[in-house]
Amino acid sequence: MQKKLLVVGSMNVDMVVKAPRIPSPGETILGGVFSRFFGGKGANQAMAAKALFADTLFSSMCGKDSIGEDYLNYLKSKGMDTSLVKRHDSLHSGVALITVDDGGENIITVAAGANLALSPSDMDNIDFSQFSHAAFQLETEIPTVMEGLKRAKEASCQTILTPAPAQKLPEEIFPLLDFIVPNQHEILLIQDGYNDAEPAAKALLDKGVKNVIITLGSKGSALFNADGRYDFGTFHTPRVDTVGAGDCFTGSFMAGLALFNGDIKKAITFATAAASIAVSKPGAQNFGTFDEVLALSGLNKQ
Ligand code: RIB
Repeated sequence: MQKKLLVVGSMNVDMVVKAPRIPSPGETILGGVFSRFFGGKGANQAMAAKALFADTLFSSMCGKDSIGEDYLNYLKSKGMDTSLVKRHDSLHSGVALITVDDGGENIITVAAGANLALSPSDMDNIDFSQFSHAAFQLETEIPTVMEGLKRAKEASCQTILTPAPAQKLPEEIFPLLDFIVPNQHEILLIQDGYNDAEPAAKALLDKGVKNVIITLGSKGSALFNADGRYDFGTFHTPRVDTVGAGDCFTGSFMAGLALFNGDIKKAITFATAAASIAVSKPGAQNFGTFDEVLALSGLNKQ
C-alpha cells in the first residue's frame, strides 16, 4: 500500500494589504484592498500536497482563540486530517502581516505565537513509519524540527526541509536531509561565507544533504546532487500574488515524489507547474486542480 505524506509546521492567518509598492523603513504609504487568507509555511505546504495527493497529514499548533478555531474548521472543511494539530492554552495563533505590491512581490512579518510551542515531544505522537515523505520548515523551533527529522529517518521516511525563515542551522541537521529547498537568498544565509548559490549548494552536499533544490522565482529552479546540476525553467502565468509560492512548490514537489515513484526531475516539473498556477491567484492556498497542474506540466499520469 502506498504510504502517506506528512507536513510538520506552522499555521498562520495572513493579513494582506495590496499596495502600489513595498514601503521603505519608517515610511507610511496608502495601500489598497485588505484580505485575510489562511497561510503559514507548514499549512501552505500541507494544503498544496493534499490538493494533489489526498493522503496528506499535517502536524501543527494553534491557540485556543477564534483564529485557531476558524483555521481548524477550514482545514476540516477541506478534508484535512487535524488529529495532529494541537491547541495551546495561552499562546495566540500565528498571524502574518503581509504587503503585496503591484508586481506580486511581498514582504512578510510573522507573529508565530503557538507555532513555536510545537515541541520535540509532539514528534513522539507521530508514527513516521506510515509516511513516505515528511516536510519541515523553520517557523517551528529547531529542536522540534531536529527531532522530527531524526524520527523520520529512523522510520525510512524521506525528509524535506525548507530553511525559511532562513537562519544558521546546526551542522548535525544536514545528514538528516534528503532534500533541502531554499531560495537564492536563503541558501546564502544558511551557508555563511558564500556569494554564489552554486558553491553554497555544493557545500551542503559535502555536509551530507542528498539533494539541494534552489528555487529561483520566475527563473525556475536548480537541482544539485551527486549526479551534478540540472536546471528547470518555469511556466509563464500572470503574476498576481507570490505569497506562498515556495510553499506550494515544496508541497507539490512532495506530492510529485509520491505520484511519480520518487522521480525527482518529474516531481520538480510537476511542482513548477503547481507553483506557476498558484502565483496567478490571490492567497497562499489557492491552488490549481490535479488535472490543471498535470496539463501545464506536460507530464503523463502514472
Ligand atoms: O511562505 C508564505 C507564508 O509565510 C505566509 O502564508 C505567511 O503566513 C508566512 O508563514
